Amino acid sequence: LGTAVIVVAAGSGTRLGAALPKAFVDLAGQTLLERSLRSIMLLPSPVQVVVVAPADFVVDAQAIANTVAPGLEEIVSVVVGGATRHDSVAAGLAQVLPSVDVVLVHDAARALTPTTLFADVEMAVRATGAGIVPALPVVDSLKQVDVTGGVLGIADRAQLRAAQTPQGFPRSELDAAYAAASASDFTDDAAVFAAQGGAVTTIPGDDVAFKITTAWDLNRAHHVLGGIPD
Ligand code: C5P
Repeated sequence: LGTAVIVVAAGSGTRLGAALPKAFVDLAGQTLLERSLRSIMLLPSPVQVVVVAPADFVVDAQAIANTVAPGLEEIVSVVVGGATRHDSVAAGLAQVLPSVDVVLVHDAARALTPTTLFADVEMAVRATGAGIVPALPVVDSLKQVDVTGGVLGIADRAQLRAAQTPQGFPRSELDAAYAAASASDFTDDAAVFAAQGGAVTTIPGDDVAFKITTAWDLNRAHHVLGGIPD
């Protein structure tokens, strides 16, 4: 296997207000994690999949992996995550098989991400050798504010993009970037990669790859699926 996808699912999901960690919340009959994995399993060529789960949900994650990829325990594995997303990605990276030379990192919470976006990111990493981030133009006007909310200035949205996942990287450089990263306050993998000097390029993202963070997002995801929220 030449490509691995690390699916980070170890967040608590406090902002969603659910009793369960976010990746294990149901969306029209399937958990967010199951939906993310199903999209990956539709790739035409096999990839290694590493699911990073909260310690208390490793058994649940394994059950979901077995449903989505029966008999493929060797290439679809589950590991325990860490306190931050950064630690969770590092735990996933430690499980990547020696043969893998391209690693994609994906938020399980982006449950409706189409298979084509995984394929596009993988292809772009192989074509360019750079870090690849799917990204969308910013539609809102942007303000820089002080602690009281007072507006200090504006940012030119034409020069900005909102980054999604999956983000893809040459494996050896991503390993080195994670080994060297001291701060864990990076909010995505491209930031870790770039902090160690890696070149990062964007490709067009996808509107339905939005991150399900709040109850509103979950409701929106129901509507995208054409269903009526529970
Ligand atoms: O918190 P946020 O929405 O940015 O999390 C993005 C993704 O990272 C989610 O899929 C979440 O499950 C994952 N995560 C993780 N380990 C953490 C925190 C977040 O795997 N400690």
